[in-house]
Amino acid sequence: MQTTMLSVSTFFHLILLLFSLADLLNAAAAADYLKLPLLHKNPFSSPSQALSSDTHRLSLLFSALRRRPNPTLKSPLISGASTGSGQYFVDLRIGTPPQSLLLVADTGSDLVWVKCSACRNCSHHPPSSAFLPRHSSSFSPFHCFDPHCRLLPHAPPHLCNHTRLHSPCRFLYTYADGSTSSGFFSKETTTLKTLSGSETRLKDLSFGCGFRISGPSVSGAQFNGARGVMGLGRGPISFSTQLGRRFGNKFSYCLMDYTLSPPPTSYLMIGGGLRSLPVTNATKISYTPLLINPLSPTFYYIAVKSITVDGVKLPINPTVWAIDEQGNGGTVVDSGTTLTYLAEEAYKEVLKAVRQRVKLPAAAELTPGFDLCVNVSKESQRPSLPRVRFRVGNGAVFAPPARNYFLETVEGVMCLAIRAVEGGNGFSVIGNLMQQGFLLEFDKEASRLGFSRRGCGLP
Ligand SMILES: *[C@@H]1O[C@H](CO)[C@@H](O)[C@H](O)[C@H]1NC(C)=O
Ligand SMILES: *[C@@H]1O[C@H](CO)[C@@H](O)[C@H](O)[C@H]1NC(C)=O
Ligand SMILES: *[C@@H]1O[C@H](CO)[C@@H](O)[C@H](O)[C@H]1NC(C)=O
Ligand SMILES: *[C@@H]1O[C@H](CO)[C@@H](O)[C@H](O)[C@H]1NC(C)=O
Repeated sequence: MQTTMLSVSTFFHLILLLFSLADLLNAAAAADYLKLPLLHKNPFSSPSQALSSDTHRLSLLFSALRRRPNPTLKSPLISGASTGSGQYFVDLRIGTPPQSLLLVADTGSDLVWVKCSACRNCSHHPPSSAFLPRHSSSFSPFHCFDPHCRLLPHAPPHLCNHTRLHSPCRFLYTYADGSTSSGFFSKETTTLKTLSGSETRLKDLSFGCGFRISGPSVSGAQFNGARGVMGLGRGPISFSTQLGRRFGNKFSYCLMDYTLSPPPTSYLMIGGGLRSLPVTNATKISYTPLLINPLSPTFYYIAVKSITVDGVKLPINPTVWAIDEQGNGGTVVDSGTTLTYLAEEAYKEVLKAVRQRVKLPAAAELTPGFDLCVNVSKESQRPSLPRVRFRVGNGAVFAPPARNYFLETVEGVMCLAIRAVEGGNGFSVIGNLMQQGFLLEFDKEASRLGFSRRGCGLP
């Protein structure tokens, strides 16, 4: 019996090896896959507190969209990057010798930036509280005339005096709620662990050395000990795009359910993707095309086609999901946003159908910010809740478990963790709670998103 199992597993290893080899041959110069543990932190003592901050952040996001003077001009910087609550963090080792810094992993923005300090004698800086460029022999700011500098959004070439030797490339990155980070766009060596456990040193990672950081989503309590943001967006300066040139132009992660105790470890994988994981059990992977919105090139858009509740298709006009000529609308997959936000018309139908189908008694009072809360105090284990499913582009069906869209806000009370996008011209967001327990692969090469409920717990 055991030998059979062994040989089966060896067989699968061989298959995997073959796949990996194929990947290696496909992805030019790909040597291995990167594997970075993702940590989850919730800075708030109660979910409702966390979520009221999430509301705040996104409502600002959408009002920022509305406020724009010229509706056809889309800033690529609108992001769920702000880090209100329930975020996933990744440890980046940067510099020579390496300095370790905790960053928020964000698929809703591009720039990688870290808080920097120019101190020479940094004995008053606790370790890992900021990046200390003067303590690194490989730090080098880009000159403002460097082509890399032009990859920044709103790069001000007119301010560049290229005859001057010391004229660094300045960046100013603005998030959804107006929070900003600014400083010098630079390059550094990073030290990364590959899937096989070996360390790789990668030269010339472009990143922002942030000296001025302000606003609630990138400083203070809400930032929760993070020292910067690792942008994983689709644009040229994101971490995944930069490393994709070396490791294969795809990345994947699995956000584990952080309400479990002890919390399981999630990983961010650069390169390789689903096939690099030891998922051997006829893992069913669904794929849906990633769409490009030229006016918001940072975001990973997918096409929602319809929603069902307990198998019944909701009467939502398909135009509700479309990206219009001004670049508004559409649905974005964002690791930097906690809840899921649906276009108002779709949300109303989901709320109506879930309310009709839910068999549990209503909670005595609604948790602020939610429209539907049920009393689960009498339920022994898993309460029976309506099944919400999303049919997405290419016929794939995203079928999350109820805990991805019903959240225990107070003991014994669960609320529908989906909200309406406010205002007519925002976009829908599949937040990180909805993504939990799924292995997601953002394959930029094939322009598709793969998802699977198998293989998450594996290293
Ligand atoms: C650095 O600062 C510490 C304490 O602030 C001091 O004791 C030490 O002499 C300083 N070193 C140098 C090289 O300035
Ligand atoms: C550019 O820098 C050079 C050398 O510092 C200086 O002579 C020149 O006036 C500067 N040009 C502008 C437009 O500031
Ligand atoms: C593989 O599938 C079998 C049958 O569906 C199941 O019993 C087993 O637990 C699965 N193994 C893994 C590693 O998922
Ligand atoms: C839930 O129901 C129980 C009785 O079934 C009641 O005692 C409790 O107050 C209810 N809680 C809420 C928040 O509605």
